[in-house]
Amino acid sequence: MMTPERFKHYTLGIPELDNDHWELFEILNKLSIAKKNCNSDYSSILKNKFVKLFNLHTNREIELAIKWRFPFTEYHDSSHPTLIDMLYKRTKLSTSECLSELDVSDMINSLCEHIDKYDFQYVPFYKAWKEKHV
Ligand SMILES: [Fe+2]
Ligand SMILES: [Fe+2]
Repeated sequence: MMTPERFKHYTLGIPELDNDHWELFEILNKLSIAKKNCNSDYSSILKNKFVKLFNLHTNREIELAIKWRFPFTEYHDSSHPTLIDMLYKRTKLSTSECLSELDVSDMINSLCEHIDKYDFQYVPFYKAWKEKHV
């Protein structure tokens, strides 16, 4: 489960991205609840919602980062497709099956790791951009 307390550690201070991240975590929290009653229809709706929002979010993130003049590297560029690929492979993201508690917590941890390792790199570029544009 992603709690508001835990989320504080993964808050960038960039509202557009933080809102998306929180929404993604909320879907994962709901997936973990769906597992308790194993509702595969609900589970597949949530999974679709997650993938849609994830794609929307990564596009938004890249668009904003270009605006902030973030120096992309190939490594950084490939981190989103790598993350979603890994989620497909490691979890049952592509099926309507209910995820296990472990799958959901794996997904939450992978997203946390990504934010920690990659998304935090945007912060100084966002701040520098904001200083010039406020
Ligand atoms: Fe990212
Ligand atoms: Fe992100």
